[in-house]
Amino acid sequence: MPNKEQSDLSLIEQTLDTYADVPGSLIAILQETQETYGYLPMDAMEYIAKRTKTPIATIVGVATFYAQFRLKPVGKYLIMLCQGTACHVNGSELISAAITDELGIEDGQTTADGLFSLKHVACLGCCSLSPVMMINGVTYGSLTPDKAKKVIRSLAKEGGESA
Ligand code: FES
Repeated sequence: MPNKEQSDLSLIEQTLDTYADVPGSLIAILQETQETYGYLPMDAMEYIAKRTKTPIATIVGVATFYAQFRLKPVGKYLIMLCQGTACHVNGSELISAAITDELGIEDGQTTADGLFSLKHVACLGCCSLSPVMMINGVTYGSLTPDKAKKVIRSLAKEGGESA
Protein backbone atom coordinates (compact mmCIF):
# COMPACT_ATOMS: atom_id res chain seq x y z
CA MET A 1 0.00 0.00 0.00
CA PRO A 2 1.48 3.41 -0.91
CA ASN A 3 2.45 5.56 2.07
CA LYS A 4 1.62 8.85 0.54
CA GLU A 5 -1.20 9.47 -1.87
CA GLN A 6 -0.09 10.68 -5.22
CA SER A 7 -3.10 11.48 -7.30
CA ASP A 8 -2.93 12.58 -10.90
CA LEU A 9 -4.04 16.14 -10.22
CA SER A 10 -4.29 16.97 -13.91
CA LEU A 11 -7.54 15.00 -13.88
CA ILE A 12 -9.32 17.75 -11.94
CA GLU A 13 -7.68 20.64 -13.74
CA GLN A 14 -10.67 21.19 -16.00
CA THR A 15 -13.11 21.20 -13.08
CA LEU A 16 -10.96 23.75 -11.29
CA ASP A 17 -10.61 25.89 -14.41
CA THR A 18 -14.39 25.99 -14.57
CA TYR A 19 -15.26 26.46 -10.89
CA ALA A 20 -12.23 27.67 -8.93
CA ASP A 21 -13.28 31.33 -9.08
CA VAL A 22 -17.01 30.76 -8.84
CA PRO A 23 -18.25 31.53 -5.31
CA GLY A 24 -20.26 28.77 -3.64
CA SER A 25 -19.01 26.03 -5.94
CA LEU A 26 -16.94 24.06 -3.44
CA ILE A 27 -19.46 21.22 -3.19
CA ALA A 28 -19.64 20.92 -6.96
CA ILE A 29 -15.84 20.76 -7.13
CA LEU A 30 -15.72 18.08 -4.45
CA GLN A 31 -18.46 16.08 -6.18
CA GLU A 32 -16.59 16.10 -9.48
CA THR A 33 -13.35 15.26 -7.72
CA GLN A 34 -14.97 12.28 -6.06
CA GLU A 35 -16.40 11.15 -9.38
CA THR A 36 -12.90 11.30 -10.82
CA TYR A 37 -11.04 9.40 -8.10
CA GLY A 38 -13.87 7.47 -6.44
CA TYR A 39 -13.14 9.35 -3.19
CA LEU A 40 -11.48 12.56 -2.05
CA PRO A 41 -7.71 12.05 -1.82
CA MET A 42 -5.91 14.36 0.62
CA ASP A 43 -3.51 15.70 -2.00
CA ALA A 44 -6.45 16.58 -4.26
CA MET A 45 -8.11 18.48 -1.41
CA GLU A 46 -4.86 20.34 -0.80
CA TYR A 47 -4.73 21.26 -4.45
CA ILE A 48 -8.36 22.41 -4.42
CA ALA A 49 -7.55 24.55 -1.37
CA LYS A 50 -4.70 26.17 -3.25
CA ARG A 51 -6.61 26.76 -6.46
CA THR A 52 -9.77 28.08 -4.77
CA LYS A 53 -7.79 30.05 -2.16
CA THR A 54 -9.81 28.33 0.55
CA PRO A 55 -8.25 27.13 3.82
CA ILE A 56 -7.64 23.38 3.77
CA ALA A 57 -9.53 23.11 7.08
CA THR A 58 -12.66 24.42 5.35
CA ILE A 59 -12.36 21.90 2.53
CA VAL A 60 -11.82 18.98 4.91
CA GLY A 61 -14.64 20.32 7.09
CA VAL A 62 -17.09 20.25 4.18
CA ALA A 63 -15.83 16.86 3.01
CA THR A 64 -16.35 15.30 6.43
CA PHE A 65 -19.69 17.02 7.10
CA TYR A 66 -21.54 15.59 4.13
CA ALA A 67 -22.20 11.86 4.09
CA GLN A 68 -21.95 11.79 0.28
CA PHE A 69 -18.20 12.35 0.44
CA ARG A 70 -15.68 9.59 1.02
CA LEU A 71 -12.23 10.25 2.38
CA LYS A 72 -10.88 6.78 1.77
CA PRO A 73 -10.71 4.79 -1.43
CA VAL A 74 -13.52 2.31 -1.83
CA GLY A 75 -13.01 -1.27 -2.89
CA LYS A 76 -13.69 -2.55 -6.36
CA TYR A 77 -17.06 -3.72 -5.03
CA LEU A 78 -18.99 -1.30 -2.85
CA ILE A 79 -21.53 -3.23 -0.79
CA MET A 80 -24.33 -0.87 0.19
CA LEU A 81 -26.28 -2.69 2.85
CA CYS A 82 -29.70 -1.25 3.57
CA GLN A 83 -30.49 -0.37 7.17
CA GLY A 84 -33.92 1.10 6.44
CA THR A 85 -36.89 0.07 8.58
CA ALA A 86 -38.16 -2.80 6.42
CA CYS A 87 -34.69 -4.27 5.99
CA HIS A 88 -33.94 -3.82 9.65
CA VAL A 89 -37.11 -5.66 10.65
CA ASN A 90 -36.26 -8.44 8.21
CA GLY A 91 -32.78 -9.09 9.54
CA SER A 92 -30.29 -6.66 7.98
CA GLU A 93 -28.21 -6.97 11.14
CA LEU A 94 -27.71 -10.66 10.47
CA ILE A 95 -26.62 -9.85 6.93
CA SER A 96 -24.18 -7.29 8.24
CA ALA A 97 -22.76 -9.86 10.65
CA ALA A 98 -22.46 -12.39 7.82
CA ILE A 99 -20.53 -9.91 5.68
CA THR A 100 -18.25 -9.09 8.59
CA ASP A 101 -17.75 -12.77 9.17
CA GLU A 102 -16.93 -13.39 5.50
CA LEU A 103 -14.74 -10.36 4.81
CA GLY A 104 -13.55 -9.18 8.21
CA ILE A 105 -14.77 -5.62 7.62
CA GLU A 106 -17.41 -3.50 9.28
CA ASP A 107 -19.41 -0.50 8.13
CA GLY A 108 -17.11 2.06 6.49
CA GLN A 109 -14.18 -0.31 6.04
CA THR A 110 -12.42 -1.80 3.01
CA THR A 111 -10.74 -5.19 2.77
CA ALA A 112 -6.94 -5.20 2.69
CA ASP A 113 -6.93 -6.51 -0.88
CA GLY A 114 -9.03 -3.53 -1.98
CA LEU A 115 -11.82 -5.71 -3.35
CA PHE A 116 -14.72 -4.90 -1.02
CA SER A 117 -16.01 -1.94 0.96
CA LEU A 118 -19.03 -2.09 3.21
CA LYS A 119 -21.35 0.83 3.71
CA HIS A 120 -24.58 0.86 5.65
CA VAL A 121 -27.13 3.02 3.89
CA ALA A 122 -30.69 4.23 4.33
CA CYS A 123 -33.63 2.73 2.40
CA LEU A 124 -32.61 1.70 -1.12
CA GLY A 125 -36.19 1.99 -2.34
CA CYS A 126 -36.97 -1.68 -2.88
CA CYS A 127 -38.37 -2.62 0.53
CA SER A 128 -40.49 -5.45 -0.86
CA LEU A 129 -37.21 -7.31 -1.42
CA SER A 130 -35.90 -6.69 2.09
CA PRO A 131 -33.34 -7.31 3.36
CA VAL A 132 -31.48 -5.81 0.46
CA MET A 133 -27.94 -4.95 -0.52
CA MET A 134 -26.75 -3.24 -3.66
CA ILE A 135 -23.30 -3.90 -5.08
CA ASN A 136 -22.04 -1.69 -7.89
CA GLY A 137 -25.58 -0.95 -9.03
CA VAL A 138 -26.91 -4.53 -8.82
CA THR A 139 -29.62 -5.23 -6.26
CA TYR A 140 -29.62 -8.45 -4.26
CA GLY A 141 -32.86 -8.99 -2.35
CA SER A 142 -34.54 -11.41 0.04
CA LEU A 143 -31.13 -11.99 1.55
CA THR A 144 -30.19 -14.57 4.09
CA PRO A 145 -26.75 -14.63 5.70
CA ASP A 146 -25.91 -17.61 3.53
CA LYS A 147 -27.10 -15.99 0.31
CA ALA A 148 -25.13 -12.81 1.07
CA LYS A 149 -21.97 -14.86 1.63
CA LYS A 150 -22.49 -16.72 -1.65
CA VAL A 151 -22.86 -13.45 -3.60
CA ILE A 152 -19.67 -12.14 -2.03
CA ARG A 153 -17.76 -15.34 -2.73
CA SER A 154 -18.73 -15.33 -6.37
CA LEU A 155 -17.75 -11.67 -6.76
CA ALA A 156 -14.47 -12.31 -4.96
CA LYS A 157 -13.73 -15.04 -7.48
CA GLU A 158 -14.63 -12.81 -10.41
CA GLY A 159 -12.79 -9.80 -9.02
CA GLY A 160 -9.73 -11.81 -8.09
CA GLU A 161 -9.50 -13.25 -11.59
CA SER A 162 -9.85 -9.94 -13.43
CA ALA A 163 -7.51 -8.04 -11.08
S1 FES B 1 -35.80 -0.43 3.94
FE1 FES B 1 -34.35 -1.49 2.76
S2 FES B 1 -34.94 -1.11 0.75
FE2 FES B 1 -36.31 0.04 1.92
